[in-house]
Amino acid sequence: MILNFKKYIIAISAIGLGSCAQQEQEPLVLSSPGAVNEIQFSLNPEGIPTYQVSHGETQVLDPSELGFVFKDKDSLYRDFEIVGVQERNFDKQWDQVWGEKKTIRNHYNELAIQLQETGDKKRKLNLEFRAYDDGVAFRYIFPEQGIKDSIFIMDELTKFELTQDGKAWWIPAYSEQRYEYLFTDSPVSTIDTVHTPLTIESKNGLSLSFHEANLVNFASTTLARTEGTTLKTDLVPWADGVKVRITDSFTTPWRTLQIAEDPTQLITSYLILNLNEPNKIADTDWIKPFKYIGIWWGMHIGKYTFWEGENQGATTKNAKKYIDFAAKEGIDHLLIEGWNKGWTPDWYKNEMHQFNFTKEADNFDLETVTDYAAEHDVRIIGYHETGSNIDNYLRQIDSAFALYNKVGIHDVKIGHVGSMLKMKEWHHGQFGVDYFRYVLEKAAEYHLTVLYHEPIKDTGERRTYPNMMAREGARGQEYNAWSEGNPPNYTTILPFTRLLSGPMDFTAGILDVEISQGYPGRRVHSTAAKQLALLVTVYSPIQMFADLPENYQGQLAFQFLKDVPSDWEDTRVLNGAIGEYITTARKDINSEDWYLGSMTNEEPRDFEISLSFLDPDTRYEAQIYGDAHGTDLNNKPEAIAISTSEVSAKDSLKLHLGAGGGAAVRFKQL
Ligand code: NOJ
Repeated sequence: MILNFKKYIIAISAIGLGSCAQQEQEPLVLSSPGAVNEIQFSLNPEGIPTYQVSHGETQVLDPSELGFVFKDKDSLYRDFEIVGVQERNFDKQWDQVWGEKKTIRNHYNELAIQLQETGDKKRKLNLEFRAYDDGVAFRYIFPEQGIKDSIFIMDELTKFELTQDGKAWWIPAYSEQRYEYLFTDSPVSTIDTVHTPLTIESKNGLSLSFHEANLVNFASTTLARTEGTTLKTDLVPWADGVKVRITDSFTTPWRTLQIAEDPTQLITSYLILNLNEPNKIADTDWIKPFKYIGIWWGMHIGKYTFWEGENQGATTKNAKKYIDFAAKEGIDHLLIEGWNKGWTPDWYKNEMHQFNFTKEADNFDLETVTDYAAEHDVRIIGYHETGSNIDNYLRQIDSAFALYNKVGIHDVKIGHVGSMLKMKEWHHGQFGVDYFRYVLEKAAEYHLTVLYHEPIKDTGERRTYPNMMAREGARGQEYNAWSEGNPPNYTTILPFTRLLSGPMDFTAGILDVEISQGYPGRRVHSTAAKQLALLVTVYSPIQMFADLPENYQGQLAFQFLKDVPSDWEDTRVLNGAIGEYITTARKDINSEDWYLGSMTNEEPRDFEISLSFLDPDTRYEAQIYGDAHGTDLNNKPEAIAISTSEVSAKDSLKLHLGAGGGAAVRFKQL
C-alpha cells in the first residue's frame, strides 16, 4: 500500500465503484512521496472527470475538467463512472548516457483510473496521474475497444484552472517563426495562446511550469486561455483542422506541471525526463557529447556565403583551415554548412527548396575534407538544411545518411528554415511530431547523433533516444548577427523557460561581441565574459564555440572554452531570478573539477557566492574569467579579466558582473 494515499481511496477501490456517476463521491487523493504535492480526482455531478492540484496548504489548480471531442461533435467528456482504480509507488534511479546530472531518481506515486461512459456507447477512457515532489503529471489512455473507424480528435478539453493569477513568461503560438520569439512577461489573465514550457511566477509565491512529456504520435499542445486564469490544451491541428488522427487506441503525452518554491528549482527538476520511456538504444558507445566550431558564424555575419561563389564558406580550402585550427586547439568537431548543392542567395525564403543531400557544392570535396579531418583527429558534423521541404528530404534521407556513414560522419545537424505551412502543415502538429521522431529513429539506425534546428519542441526524447543531442527551438545567437538581436535579459529568461524542455544549441562563445567583420549596427548584446558563462548556464551536450577562429587566436579567455566540459556529473543552480540573473555550478563527469557561470540582464550586479557545493575535503584553484573593471555592454564589452585564487568549500567568491555581463569560473582540483 502506498503510505501517502488517503484512506478513502482504498475504500473506493475496494467496493468496485460500480455506482452511478451522478452521485457525488469522495475524491480520490494522490500525494507525492514526500507529501509535497497532491492531486485530487473526482467525477463531478455530470460525470465529467475533474482533477485539482495543491502544494502543501496552497491550492494551485482548482477543479479542472478533462475530456475530448471527436469528429461530428461526438464528445468523450461526461457521463462517466469509475470502474477501476489502482495505485502504485515507484522509486528507482537511472543513469543518463550523458547529461547535466548523471544519476536521476524517479520517485512518484501513481493513481490509475478506469472510466466508462454510462450511456449507450459505454466507451472506456483511462487516466494515469503521477505525483512527484517536484510536480504532477497525467495522461489519457484510450484503450483498444473494437472501434473500427479511424479516430479523429477534434479537441482535447484538458483544463488548468489556476487558482491565482501570476506573471507568465510566454512566446506566442501559431506564429510564423515557430518558437523563435522574445519572451513577454504579463499576467496569466491577459495571455492568448502560447507555447509550452509556460513558466509562471504565481501570486501564491510558487513557480510553475506547464509542459508535456513523451510527445509521440500526437499533436503537440499549446495553451489557450479560455477565461480568467483558466488555460486549456489547444492541440496544433493538421491542415484540415483535425487535431490528431489515430486508429484503434491512443495514449496522450503526459500533461505536466512542475511546481517549485523558487524558480531555480524548476531547472533541477527532472520530471520531464522521468516521464519518458527508458533508453531504447542498446549500444550507446557511439553517442558522445562534444564541442565544436563551425563554418557557420561567418555566413551569418555576411563574411561568407552559404551558396557557391566568390565568398563561399564551405570550400575544401576553408574546411582544411578550420580543421587545422580545431586540431591545434583540441576541439573535437567541425560543423560545415553549405557543403551540398541547392543553396542559393534566396535559400531562406519560404519556397520549396530542392536541396540535394548527396551532391557536393562546387569547390567542395566531401571525401577530401573528411579524410583530412580524420588524419587530424577532428570529426565533421554534416549539415542538412531541408528548407522545410520535408518530402524532398525524406526522399533522400537514406542515401544522405548512408553517405555520411561512408565518409565517417557521425553527427548530423538538420535545419528546417521556413515554414512547413507551405506543405500546409505546422512544425508542431502531429505531422511535425511524427516527422521529427521518424528522422531521429532513422538516424539511430545509421548511428548518427542529431542536432535539430527549427525543431519540434523537446519533451524529453533524449532519454529514449540518447542520439537526440540538442536542438534550437528558440532564438539563438544567430539573431545577433543579422537582426536587432537578443536583448541582455533574454539569456536570463531562457534557463527558466525554453531550457526546462531540454538542451539547447544556443551557440555561445562569441568573444568579438561587437562583430567587427559583421553587418553595420549588428552586435551581440552581452559582454564577452557573459559568452563564457553561457557555456555553463545554458545546458547542451554539444557546445559550439561560434566565433571565427581568428577571434580566438591569442585570446587568453579561449582557455576557458577549451577546458569547459560538455558532460556533467551534477548541476546546482545557486541563485536566479527570471529575466534578471542566474548562477549555475556544474561538476565535470571526468574529474573533480567544478565550473560556474553567472550572468545578468542589463543591470550590473555583485554577488557573494558560497562555495559550499565544492567537495569539503578538496582545495581548488579558482580560475575566474570576469568582466574587466569598467566593462559592460557598452564599455569595452570584449575585456575579460582573468584571475586565480585558492579556495575551498568554506569560502565564498565575490563576483562583479557589468551591465549585460557575466563571469565564468573553473574550480580546478589542486
Ligand atoms: C537556421 C539555423 O538556425 C542556422 O543554424 C543555420 O545556419 C541556418 N538556418 C541555415 O540553414
